[in-house]
Amino acid sequence: MVKVVRAATPQDAASLAELATQLGYPSTADAVRRRLQALMGSSNDAVLVAEVADRGVVGWVHVTVRQLVLGDRHAEIAGLVVHESCRRQGIGTELLRQAEAWAAARGCCQVRLGSATHRQAARAFYLSRGYLLLKEQRVFVRSLGSEAGESRAVTPEPDTRHPRSPRSR
Ligand SMILES: CC(C)(COP(=O)(O)OP(=O)(O)OC[C@H]1O[C@@H](n2cnc3c(N)ncnc32)[C@H](O)[C@@H]1OP(=O)(O)O)[C@@H](O)C(=O)NCCC(=O)NCCS
Repeated sequence: MVKVVRAATPQDAASLAELATQLGYPSTADAVRRRLQALMGSSNDAVLVAEVADRGVVGWVHVTVRQLVLGDRHAEIAGLVVHESCRRQGIGTELLRQAEAWAAARGCCQVRLGSATHRQAARAFYLSRGYLLLKEQRVFVRSLGSEAGESRAVTPEPDTRHPRSPRSR
């Protein structure tokens, strides 16, 4: 299969939105285009797409550089998905490999990511690609209202019961 990995452009927004929706984050092309445009102005972020001849974009990865007080500069895989019809063909591996190379070229010595516990394929994938399971943790979120002081708490849903919960990558 002929595949190319390249930087995403705003023209890829519809394909990225479809794949984001498969990942469990229902998204419109317009929303993804807006986000992509914001990310394209950041030297700490890369969004790469995998393109297959006669098929177009069939996967994407977002990798971001993070600097924390608690640790040295590292990269985080903020999103990775391959089209349902194209899995187990090495596309995820190629996207991850190129994201790692991008991060290494920016001085990162480690790549991290969070993956919801219900994602069994992702678990097998990352373990097979040399990643170690460091820990399992809870994710908390709180929505901020439009007016200060009117913030609303959001109750996280257990991701095992909501496998497509947008709150669990
Ligand atoms: C995880 C994901 C990106 C993997 O992409 P992919 O293109 O299918 O992965 P690859 O073909 O490169 O797989 C490489 C290896 O990972 C392992 N692997 C991948 N999918 C697997 C599965 N469903 N079950 C067991 N092992 C799996 C295998 O060892 C595989 O090698 P093999 O096919 O030679 O046995 C893809 O399954 C996906 O998009 N899943 C839904 C979204 C998701 O969970 N993203 C990760 C969020 S953190």
